Amino acid sequence: MGFSNWVFLVLLLYWLTLTSSSDGLSDFPPRFLDYAKRQDFFDWMVGVRRKIHENPELGYEEFETSKLIRAELDKMGIKYKYPYAVTGVVGFIGTGKAPFVALRADMDALPMQEMVEWEHKSKVPNKMHACGHDSHVAMLLGAARILQEHREELKGTVVLVFQPAEEGGAGAKQMIDAGALENVKAIFGLHVDSKLPLGEVASRPGPLLAASGFFQAVISGKGGHAAIPQHSIDPILAASNVIVSLQHLISREADPLDSQVVTVAKFQGGGAFNVIPDSVTIGGTFRAFSKESFKQLRQRIEEVVTGQAAVHRCKAVVDFQEKEKPFFPPTVNKKDLHEYFQAIAANMIGAEKVKSMQPLMGSEDFSFYQEMIPGYFFFLGMQNETQKPLQSAHSPYFEINEDALPYGAALHASLATGYLLELQSEVHLPKGRHHDEL
Ligand SMILES: *[C@@H]1O[C@H](CO)[C@@H](O)[C@H](O)[C@H]1NC(C)=O
Ligand SMILES: [Zn+2]
Ligand SMILES: [Zn+2]
Repeated sequence: MGFSNWVFLVLLLYWLTLTSSSDGLSDFPPRFLDYAKRQDFFDWMVGVRRKIHENPELGYEEFETSKLIRAELDKMGIKYKYPYAVTGVVGFIGTGKAPFVALRADMDALPMQEMVEWEHKSKVPNKMHACGHDSHVAMLLGAARILQEHREELKGTVVLVFQPAEEGGAGAKQMIDAGALENVKAIFGLHVDSKLPLGEVASRPGPLLAASGFFQAVISGKGGHAAIPQHSIDPILAASNVIVSLQHLISREADPLDSQVVTVAKFQGGGAFNVIPDSVTIGGTFRAFSKESFKQLRQRIEEVVTGQAAVHRCKAVVDFQEKEKPFFPPTVNKKDLHEYFQAIAANMIGAEKVKSMQPLMGSEDFSFYQEMIPGYFFFLGMQNETQKPLQSAHSPYFEINEDALPYGAALHASLATGYLLELQSEVHLPKGRHHDEL
């Protein structure tokens, strides 16, 4: 963190804690939360979320979702550009001039059947918003409305990034290639969390989510009659030993950041009870928290698969399918943004509701933004202790606690508003700048 940033942070903390009731400008985080909790505002956000939930669309097919977003932005009088990355939308609120700060929501659903029976259940068989991206869109539209109605407080421009295809499609990467981050100084993103209590948030500085990639291996031998295996080169046996050996690459260390995972989730071979097949295809995912460990793991997977197959006289070809399924970098939060986030969130919900967390093996394509510009990602609690426990993301029983929507909307809006103030103060601190260059 540069000297000017420290100066700003101290000023911001001082100003947030001491002046929260006076001039109406400095108390924006709790003010935005109250605003988002108003009944008409809440009902509108819930309506948007339910409409998207009923019509889930997969990555790069979010045409109706994108249309709904544009219709809402039109109603609010917010300018936007479209399309980015097929269905993506980028909105602009504020002065229209630099500095620019971005807020991001993902729009895609998952190819799975919803099992929750309720009034607004998915109307599309085998498609479901089981990761909460419907709520992410509703919260970013909520933030848009807060910001638009308080646009005279903005010291620059907020860029709303509605992206396609987070679930494996690397929509974030496509948005960047299409120019969504042009001139943007920083970006914020959130994800709903089923286990974290409602009204709380959690994150950490440094690596938060893992880098992840996929692999597929075709292991070939020589097929034949199952009664005379000695005349065949059995790829089923070879693949089984490959999988056992891959288990040795998994490590769970005391420092979670040193942990890594390899999981084989696909195994296809043979079709008859009495025929040894010519080949077997296996596939899976691998994860680690740094680019270096990730690269080493990729290398080891290739060595283990080909080496262990050779032990069984089989040939193996490993394909990491980077074209179709790009590797996701680790999601890494900048330390100064973490401190900034803590200050804003504590001001809104109280410091005791702002939690630290361990890094998770999940992955997020938000990491592509963080490779380009400073970015910050956090989790938003949904669990109300007095209500039934919520199922985790990607469960067919996944549900959103809609009471979390105002928190997400207000946090988004506050993070953007405050960050533009920070950038303005940097411009007004030429001495701080000077110190940076020493
Ligand atoms: C949790 O749910 C109860 C009962 O539905 C409700 O009264 C309460 O306000 C909720 N808690 C929060 C923090 O919203
Ligand atoms: Zn997901
Ligand atoms: Zn998700």
